[in-house]
Amino acid sequence: MTSPSVDGPFVPGPAFDGWLPGVDGICYGGDYNPEQWPEEVWEQDVALMREAGVNLVSVGIFSWALLEPREGEFDFAWLDRLFDLLHANGIRVDLGTPTASPPAWFFRRYPQARVVTKDGTVMGFGSRGMAAPTSPEYRAAAVRIATELAERYGAHPALALWHVHNEYGAPVSDDYSENARRAWPLWLQHRYGSLEALNAAWGTRFWGQVYGEWDEVDVPAASPSVVNPAQRLDFARFTDAMLRECFTAERDVIRARSSVPVTTNFMAVACPATDLFAWGREVDVVSNDHYLWAADPRNHVTLALAADLTRSVAGGKPWMLLEHSSSGVNWQPRNVAKRPGEELRNAMSHLGRGADAIMFFQWRASRSGAEKFHSAMLPHAGTRSRVWREVVELGATLGRLGEVVGSRTQADVALLWDQESLWAQGLEWRPSADLQAGERIQTFYDRLWRDGLTVDLARPSQDLSAYRLVVAPASYLLTAADAANLTAYVEGGGTLLVSCFSGIVDEHDRVHEGGFMAPLRTALGVWVEEFLPLREGERVTLEGLGDPLHATVWADDLVLEGAEVVATYADGPAPGGPAVTRHQAGAGKGWYLSTVLDADALAPLMARVYADAGLTPTLLPDDVEVLRRVSDDAEYTIAINHSPVDVRLPVPAGTTDLLSAGATSTDSTSGTTTVPAGEVRVLRAPR
Ligand code: GAL
Repeated sequence: MTSPSVDGPFVPGPAFDGWLPGVDGICYGGDYNPEQWPEEVWEQDVALMREAGVNLVSVGIFSWALLEPREGEFDFAWLDRLFDLLHANGIRVDLGTPTASPPAWFFRRYPQARVVTKDGTVMGFGSRGMAAPTSPEYRAAAVRIATELAERYGAHPALALWHVHNEYGAPVSDDYSENARRAWPLWLQHRYGSLEALNAAWGTRFWGQVYGEWDEVDVPAASPSVVNPAQRLDFARFTDAMLRECFTAERDVIRARSSVPVTTNFMAVACPATDLFAWGREVDVVSNDHYLWAADPRNHVTLALAADLTRSVAGGKPWMLLEHSSSGVNWQPRNVAKRPGEELRNAMSHLGRGADAIMFFQWRASRSGAEKFHSAMLPHAGTRSRVWREVVELGATLGRLGEVVGSRTQADVALLWDQESLWAQGLEWRPSADLQAGERIQTFYDRLWRDGLTVDLARPSQDLSAYRLVVAPASYLLTAADAANLTAYVEGGGTLLVSCFSGIVDEHDRVHEGGFMAPLRTALGVWVEEFLPLREGERVTLEGLGDPLHATVWADDLVLEGAEVVATYADGPAPGGPAVTRHQAGAGKGWYLSTVLDADALAPLMARVYADAGLTPTLLPDDVEVLRRVSDDAEYTIAINHSPVDVRLPVPAGTTDLLSAGATSTDSTSGTTTVPAGEVRVLRAPR
């Protein structure tokens, strides 16, 4: 294998090293939509914000119809008054560009800018959602309103952050309109240079799809059977690129007029349309929105994954939680309310994973509209409510944690996350519908979470040498360069664990030559002769890792090329065949798991893998997480007890409890602290 990549390793995170100007301590606040209320209410809002310790609010996100009531006619008077009111009260502004929701006049005037779904349905007005990202009229209008806002407020002393758009990719991502049909072949021409190259990359000789002219290449709309997967994969890339072009166009006119940093709020894990590692390079500060999935009883683990992904996309720099909820949301089938203490635990988990901003959707609950049953910092019940009391308490808590700002999280483990691979694996006609990349990532993450290990998410093209362990739960698409990077990581002394159906195709969804998983055979000492997917509900037994383990979904017929067999199949389609292998490659170890184990069954395997990696898992009580952030002179421990029982945890010597006003609740002789059921501790130790 040769060097990883001619372009050098991918480096995640924004180039910008600064933070929000003028915000002291942790940012605290939320989306503020005062245009829904008479102006008398604004005064009350601001007084209550001060009571709650709010220092930053996001405004203007859905205000286009008020700011530009007719095309080219602007009305900033109300926003001027709002800026001044907030400024006079020491509250900083995160100013939205309202381009996620163009006004009614826009769609009436430019009906051709409306999004068209895969089956040809033209999206109507009366909801929200941007126009087609490829629409020239939309792009011009978006850049115009962003320019107006930047000129007017770019140097306002209250301005701390630009919030371009809202959640690119939701609710609009794929678009099959005439605008998209025009932009798509142009994008392909730029990518491939010639039709010959496109025909080769897409393998169009299959099913007789060879293109002779560029205008024959159509968007992959509804079709009689499965569309060429390479075409679908490129369409996902194209969609992401078009959304990103909308963002950078707004960002650039803002940057030309204002030195205040620019963000756009991501939806880590929840929005598959955007390749967040690519987006993380484009913003100044990474920000994320996160909502618990109420039906999941252990949704604090999915929260943790989203937060770790956001930090990783930020390249480890501090990031902002720009939206979450004080209690239930309104858009799930059953919108379970948060119970006392849960909001604080959620906030602290984000903070413990690197967030220096804890923000909500939204400040005051709306009386009208689609989101009136969504919780808010100031709920319909007003200030005589549990939610309000907890919001005030959280503000006070964050106020005591200002010194944590800027400290960093350090991870020993990288879990690979490659959006292109996720797009590709999610297409149709894979060997088993039961093998889901998202489930594999979540399950491996859950195992690492339970073992108390801090995890970064990483692209396979990154420099991975700082990690003791790299886990590839779902690397179906792996370029030759990425595989070389992983091989170099192992040969340099790293430990790599690869899960089934990885290293199968290249960037065009073409099967790698040399047998399945061939690009990883040097690192793993094994390759796959044939996939052996299991029937629905079928279980197979693995022997060799202590008690027999049950596995589901998948098995492989493996060909060993130097790897030792750690576990074998006792039954199923390959009885007696290898199921788990371990290989010494250079100075490191390459592990391969050829089937699907749940988080419990992964435990004995991971214990062996950790031993190779020199990692010691932390034996924590169930549903307790202990997070660490470090600065030059201090180490912060954030301990969160999601369980219904009190727990005692070891603490470093000289620890101070930051939440009990300087007093220490730690027992210095025993070196432990109690975290009562449902509570959190934030401790500082010198470094
Ligand atoms: C977010 C969105 C907000 C609000 C929120 C409700 O995805 O950015 O505007 O709709 O969901 O949970």
